[in-house]
Amino acid sequence: MGSQIFATKPLNVIMEEASETGEGSLRRALGPINLITLGIGAIIGAGIFVLTGQAAATAAGPAIVISFILSGIICAFAGLCYAEFASLIPIAGSAYTYGYATLGEIFAWIIGWDLILEYAFGAATVASGWSGYFVSLFDDLGLRIPPQWIATPGTRLVLYQGHWRQLATVQQTLSSAGINPDSLPHAVGIFNLVAFLAIALATFILIVGIKESANFTSAVVFIKVAIVFVFIAVAGAFVLHHTGVADANWHPFIPSNKGHFGDFGWSGIARGASVIFFAYIGFDAVSTAAQEAKNPQRDMPIGIIGSLVICTVLYILVSGLLTAVVPYTTLNVADPVAIAIDATGVRWGSLLVKAGAVAGLGSVMLVMLLGQSRVFYSMSRDGLLPQWAGAIHSRFRTPWISSLVVGVCVAAFASLIPIGDLADLVNIGTLLAFVIVSAGVWVLRRSRPNLPRPFKTPLVPLVPILGILTSLGAMASLPPITWIRLLIWLVIGLFVYAFYSRRHSKVQIAAVKKELGALP
Ligand code: ALA
Repeated sequence: MGSQIFATKPLNVIMEEASETGEGSLRRALGPINLITLGIGAIIGAGIFVLTGQAAATAAGPAIVISFILSGIICAFAGLCYAEFASLIPIAGSAYTYGYATLGEIFAWIIGWDLILEYAFGAATVASGWSGYFVSLFDDLGLRIPPQWIATPGTRLVLYQGHWRQLATVQQTLSSAGINPDSLPHAVGIFNLVAFLAIALATFILIVGIKESANFTSAVVFIKVAIVFVFIAVAGAFVLHHTGVADANWHPFIPSNKGHFGDFGWSGIARGASVIFFAYIGFDAVSTAAQEAKNPQRDMPIGIIGSLVICTVLYILVSGLLTAVVPYTTLNVADPVAIAIDATGVRWGSLLVKAGAVAGLGSVMLVMLLGQSRVFYSMSRDGLLPQWAGAIHSRFRTPWISSLVVGVCVAAFASLIPIGDLADLVNIGTLLAFVIVSAGVWVLRRSRPNLPRPFKTPLVPLVPILGILTSLGAMASLPPITWIRLLIWLVIGLFVYAFYSRRHSKVQIAAVKKELGALP
């Protein structure tokens, strides 16, 4: 069975399964505008609302805008490759399914295992970001949640300017203001209960199958984008009237490196790019809609590149204004966009941003949890994971056990692991998936040139090669500990594959039966 790890799942089987679940008969109804909206809805989340401030404060300074341009370029290359991969298999699905049909089981397994990093840890990251805005909104409404229950274990918190803040993030501000942290009320985090409950609620919603209606989804996308525009308008007006403040905050634009890789300077810009890469995750949602596009060849690149360009422009404006309105050193907080709008003096702005972030990030959490349970469901249907992972609830018609298991794990990650560590892991996992997908597109063009491709990546092999190299570059800019965590994750995955999945794989079993049947 040695070479069987490269077994592919026959297309006709995938198509049959798809028609059973109704996936095969998706209507081609989406035009370019729908695709762009879909992309923006999946993209805007904790990345811009939380991680941008933290990356500016700790790695790139005002030059975080350059980080956004770099990261956007990486995503554009990978996005074009995703689109070809997605359009190859005429059903909705994830990179896992495409990988299984084209590259072989071991690659499908690695992608599936890797997608857990993207979706499950991604949902945990967003929940952690969500909790920051939620707690801050509650504070403003006079409802204070005990500080021990709003942070991961061991996090030291101080009460500063009416909000509980992580000591590590305000230390510099306190020392420049001559404040001794010991003189402030302080507490130590035990468990981020708020993030835990957020995931618990999202999981409940997914299990009972309350379908997000198209109207609800569009409303949330509208709210998110509107909040971003409000911030740009309010902060933009402030900057125009206070050019001196902006000028001072933007000097130096690229703070000089402090002696370590990623600690400001150009390496800080690279580190910043690999952190805020999180803000772009989700555009692959557009590629998975390839089969619902009216005219995939024309509209997929418009959808992917369009949503990326719009988000890049919005992100550049938001991050540029964030660092212009307040000194970048003050942005290492749980709610940086609210802090910045507060500094403009527009009181309602901060409440609005917090409420909008709570709604907007909530929907990203749901999308990611849903994506994760779908991947588990597909893997279990293929025999790569135990059958219970694919069990469908008789009344709710949802994969409830996998949703529940995913929910419990994600809630634990969100409440126990700091947001920065979670995001780094998501980023390295997703970048690895980009590398595999980009390489896959190139390899398949050579090995199976005649497969029908409703959408073709332009300039192959140049675009896939650039996708691979830029993704590897971003991976290299992440801290070494993230690499170690990725390797441990992959090793665990390969063990599961070797000792469980390979032996239970339906594709493998079918191949063996066929071989035995062919024996004389
Ligand atoms: N891009 C998504 C976010 O920033 C995942 O939350």
